[in-house]
Amino acid sequence: MGLFRGFVSLLVLFLIERSNMSLVRLNDNGYEDLVIAIDPGVPEDGQLIEQIKDMVTTASTYLFEATEKRFFFKNVSILIPKNWKENLNYKRPKHESYEYADVRIAAPALPGRDEPYTRQFTDCGEKAEYIHFTPDYVRGKKQNEYGPSGRLFVHEWAHLRWGVFDEYNEDQPFYSAKSKKIEATRCSTGISGINRVYKCQADSCVIRSCRTNSTTKLYEKDCQFFPDKVQAEKASIMFMQSIDSVFEFCNAENHNHEAPSLQNINSSEDFTNTTPMAAPPPPPVFSLLRISERILCLVLDKSGSMSSFNRLNRMNQAAQYFLLQTVENGSWVGMVHFDSVATIKSELIQIKSDSERNKLLESLPTQAYGGTSICSGIEAAFQLTSQMDGSEIVLLTDGEDVTTGRCIDTVKQSGVIIHFIALGPSADEGVIQMSNIKGETLSIYSRYLIYFHGHCKIYLHSIVVHFWTYPHSLLFTYFLSVIFSIPQYSFSLVFLIFYF
Ligand SMILES: *[C@@H]1O[C@H](CO)[C@@H](O)[C@H](O)[C@H]1NC(C)=O
Ligand SMILES: *[C@@H]1O[C@H](CO)[C@@H](O)[C@H](O)[C@H]1NC(C)=O
Ligand SMILES: *[C@@H]1O[C@H](CO)[C@@H](O)[C@H](O)[C@H]1NC(C)=O
Ligand SMILES: *[C@@H]1O[C@H](CO)[C@@H](O)[C@H](O)[C@H]1NC(C)=O
Repeated sequence: MGLFRGFVSLLVLFLIERSNMSLVRLNDNGYEDLVIAIDPGVPEDGQLIEQIKDMVTTASTYLFEATEKRFFFKNVSILIPKNWKENLNYKRPKHESYEYADVRIAAPALPGRDEPYTRQFTDCGEKAEYIHFTPDYVRGKKQNEYGPSGRLFVHEWAHLRWGVFDEYNEDQPFYSAKSKKIEATRCSTGISGINRVYKCQADSCVIRSCRTNSTTKLYEKDCQFFPDKVQAEKASIMFMQSIDSVFEFCNAENHNHEAPSLQNINSSEDFTNTTPMAAPPPPPVFSLLRISERILCLVLDKSGSMSSFNRLNRMNQAAQYFLLQTVENGSWVGMVHFDSVATIKSELIQIKSDSERNKLLESLPTQAYGGTSICSGIEAAFQLTSQMDGSEIVLLTDGEDVTTGRCIDTVKQSGVIIHFIALGPSADEGVIQMSNIKGETLSIYSRYLIYFHGHCKIYLHSIVVHFWTYPHSLLFTYFLSVIFSIPQYSFSLVFLIFYF
């Protein structure tokens, strides 16, 4: 049973981790830490970066107007793929990853289908997953079809951040209003235009008035609403932001309650927690981050308590598995041992073939003695990796250390990702200290804890698994393979407590 539940909870855990991992936060009136990632499949093109900047800068002003001086984009990271050339202006990502980016710039699934969209499977009012733009759209090549990119960015942003829906409805483009007139589904009804059937056959196109279907009392299937190019109506962005005069979202006053659209601009927390600004906002600030090779340090506990229950051996098995099977070619790997003090056993070396992997294996600890100071281990690893942004520490310990509180702040402030793997039942204390979760006790079977630490969201997971009756090393290997396949820069601290 224990085994089964352990597996189940692990699945749940990773599913949870996948949603809502955006780093964006609203600080006063500015959205900070937006991540726009360029797909590795997009060929190198420095111009594209400039076009992304232009799009967001225009969007920021438009958003500010549309929300009555409430919101703007304050700072944005553009994530550049590893296969683009290095450049002195590019920094290393800390927690930003392609997987959890707010906006993806990627080729269309079908060539020529450049329609921008937001992946939104959630209920109205809930944040969506990400916005998708194609490189050609960002380059301005598809503006005739989909309108200018700055405005469209705001339309998609409303889907992503506030979970609002479109005010057009392709399934029900028309409805029968109380006035007995047939109206196009739109917001607001002040948007003027004409209803026409526009059909092309071979080389000739015809435009004609729409006929009414006597059964449905609505216009025939091919009838479309064409808004007037020149008009004065200001709402709404979720209907058609490409009309020049449109500068507003639908609100309680101009909302078209009759129309069968899903739109419902309901107060998101963002709205309730902010007041309009007096001065115009500064333009967004951009950081360019290029995904690069992994920098990783194994931090291994060789304290006296590791000699019981075969722990040292198990830890070495795990480290061996990791070094031989998991870590990618090209990564830089170093090793630290610690008991009450820490020693650097291997400087960072770049894995090119099995020879580097084997060299690291020779540095695994063979004897367990001394006290435990997890912080010393972490500090040595920081020294080794120069606390490089996005570098990782894989910490294997039995966690029998009550002094971890000392370095919690240093860990939080660094851009380093720590994978914390605890062996043995006594790790609770260390884990709780490390994760700063007070008064939480871990239940017998399994549970996970997700915890937000102020600015940078650190997800802490604790899983307690009983598996007295199962072959330890097999299960251990399984868990490790799961842990180490966590995508790079996924900013998770993973705590696994194994009860032997
Ligand atoms: C955005 O601004 C905040 C607050 O000034 C800062 O902490 C953060 O590092 C900035 N992020 C980027 C990507 O510049
Ligand atoms: C009118 O609408 C009904 C129901 O959608 C459809 O079955 C019918 O074919 C339509 N009639 C015409 C003339 O298009
Ligand atoms: C938001 O929607 C809910 C449910 O539809 C409604 O009860 C609430 O009054 C709305 N809030 C605002 C500010 O319109
Ligand atoms: C790493 O490179 C070596 C030699 O080039 C190759 O044999 C091996 O399969 C690669 N390993 C991985 C995990 O890609």
